Amino acid sequence: MTADDLKKQAAARALELVRPGMRLGLGTGSTAKHFVDLLGLRVAEGFEILCVATSEATQAQAVALGIPLSTLDETPELDLTVDGADEIDPQLRLIKGGGAALLREKIVASASARMVVIADDGKLVKTLGRFPLPIEVVPFGLEVTRRAVVEAIAAAGAAGELVLRRRPDGAILVTDGGHYLLDAHLGAIERPEALAQALNGVPGVVEHGLFIGLASGAILAGADGLKLLGRIG
Ligand code: A5P
Repeated sequence: MTADDLKKQAAARALELVRPGMRLGLGTGSTAKHFVDLLGLRVAEGFEILCVATSEATQAQAVALGIPLSTLDETPELDLTVDGADEIDPQLRLIKGGGAALLREKIVASASARMVVIADDGKLVKTLGRFPLPIEVVPFGLEVTRRAVVEAIAAAGAAGELVLRRRPDGAILVTDGGHYLLDAHLGAIERPEALAQALNGVPGVVEHGLFIGLASGAILAGADGLKLLGRIG
């Protein structure tokens, strides 16, 4: 079974959580894409739902599938968000943002009564940080912000290279919000709460990919079947 098959299995299990009339946050990434595809099939059969997308890419996918969409301004309280993650630890702390959508993903998750993560079980780690932590920053004063981020990382007891994310053609990647991403190659984040707090205090940092206290449950698909963490239903 391929990693993509596993992602699809997790997405299919998450679809069972969706009830008619729900207000639903739609995640971003290859796993969330499966979920949106499956949801589109249900909508085509007449299933009623109202969704908010976490990225322009997911928005376009949902439009193409005929999934009814709203905005957080019109629908500021959501029942459930289903989204992927780059890393998950046993306490349901996450690294997100590999797909560059962390800012909207975090806003949508924080507006949701529940956030359920879907992933292949290779994303489950004891300690976060092997996946580079995305930090979204405003372009203005980038060097000043970069230096302050280095200090914040050190203050939280971590260290590692910061890499400005670029697109495959070499141009600087610009997020849906018009910002840049610094990917922090930390190896291990022993104190995720301390790092999140330190980064939150840096002017120029818009958001970071540490999602702490947001996920209520996770559906992890592996060769041995599905593993559920936390509260799913
Ligand atoms: C998007 O910014 C990310 O947070 C994704 O949710 C995360 O990168 C997981 O993506 P995949 O499902 O493609 O692994």
